[in-house]
Amino acid sequence: MSVKEKSDHGMCICDEESTEQKLARIAEVIERYKNLEGSLIQVLHMSQNIFGFLPMEVQKFIAEKMNKPLSEVSGVVTFYSFFSTVPPGKHTIRVCMGTACYVRGGKKIVERLEEILDIRVGETTKDRKFTFEVARCVGACGLAPVMTIDDVVYKQVNPDKLELILAKY
Ligand code: FES
Repeated sequence: MSVKEKSDHGMCICDEESTEQKLARIAEVIERYKNLEGSLIQVLHMSQNIFGFLPMEVQKFIAEKMNKPLSEVSGVVTFYSFFSTVPPGKHTIRVCMGTACYVRGGKKIVERLEEILDIRVGETTKDRKFTFEVARCVGACGLAPVMTIDDVVYKQVNPDKLELILAKY
């Protein structure tokens, strides 16, 4: 396995692994966590880090390995918006909806982005270019409203400038 990069949790986030290799790593995670209280959410989080999203194939694998009904696994995946069953877009846009950003126009940024991208929060554009999410305070409240695209932070965002920002991608 060629490991290019590791996330904060030490998980490989390279794209060069085969599906079998990713499932093998998910199996290791399950072995480590399956006997702990509330382990399903933890396992799903780590599996999404490994796989990028949680398609039915992965949900079935987790259900089997954890001896849980598929309906329980799918129920949790569907309930929490941070789990996704479709591959993420190439870029992830996150609009801060912390208090400072919210009162200084964060909601308008969300509405304008929904219009421009033609999707709702939590969705990915049809061309798979952007996934659109909201975030909690990102620690730049003095320069609200704030949004991020991947690792880049955009401060004092103006809804009229959004198209220009997105055009860079
Ligand atoms: S509330 Fe948005 S950066 Fe703090």
